[in-house]
Amino acid sequence: MRIRRRDFLKLVGVGGAVFVLGPHQFVGAADKETGLDDFFFVQLSDSHWGFNDPKINPDASGTLRKAIAAVNSMKFQPDFVVFTGDLTQTTDDPKERRKRMAEVREIVSGLAVKNIKFIPGEHDASLDNGEAFREFFGKTHYTFEHKGVHFIVIDNVSDPTSSIGDAQLQWLSDALKPLDKDARIVVFTHRPLFDLYPNWDWWTRDGAKAVNLLMPYKNVTVFYGHIHQENHHTTGHIDHHAARGLMWPLPAPGSLPKKVMVPWDPSEPYKGLGYRGVDARVEKAEYVLSEFPIKKG
Ligand SMILES: [Fe+2]
Repeated sequence: MRIRRRDFLKLVGVGGAVFVLGPHQFVGAADKETGLDDFFFVQLSDSHWGFNDPKINPDASGTLRKAIAAVNSMKFQPDFVVFTGDLTQTTDDPKERRKRMAEVREIVSGLAVKNIKFIPGEHDASLDNGEAFREFFGKTHYTFEHKGVHFIVIDNVSDPTSSIGDAQLQWLSDALKPLDKDARIVVFTHRPLFDLYPNWDWWTRDGAKAVNLLMPYKNVTVFYGHIHQENHHTTGHIDHHAARGLMWPLPAPGSLPKKVMVPWDPSEPYKGLGYRGVDARVEKAEYVLSEFPIKKG
């Protein structure tokens, strides 16, 4: 029997039963009327490779590896994995930055899925305008298509003023122009494109300009990182979803006088760390999110 991931989720959800299937039995069956495929991808974020403080994360070199092992063991493998920035912890030393990037790239090559999309965070890119990131991971802003969805990667970190910049905004405008107003559009970026909490640098200085360019399009969803916690927000009809990180959690926006890392809790190891699965229902332009914790062991 061949089964779609969507049907599998329904069966498990309704019946509570577990169906053991081989890894290749998932087929993204096309919708009969539209010919559009459903698919599944995974979002990982903020692995901060090179960070070292046992009070914050005593498993600093193991957490990303645990996430990768967990993704590899998923019954239905994602079509692709996206990293929404801060792959590495910032450093003033260009040699050390490249060492961290080489290491993280090596670890990530352990993913069974070979289609991996990388996006820089300010820790990766703001001290050298993305130079080292480009050497290791390629362009910092780009588009790609997948099964009827137009993906747009926006770089709001290489510019140290937390901006996208006019040149990239023009590029975004040009990329959007050929698309129908009901095109399925997904944006990947690092910082929130809206003012979540500018006092903690949880914003993009000219993010409103990008949102305005996206606004005429009916089906736009944004996935981002940066804030090391889950967050869901809407600007008009555009949904913005932040994912948890893989090194330390941060407090809710403005909940404390200062933005401080949440220390490790030995009674609940890996609390607040995790990653996300996204089921794209392309015909309906819906995205079903599954938030996964990092598990001990
Ligand atoms: Fe981060």
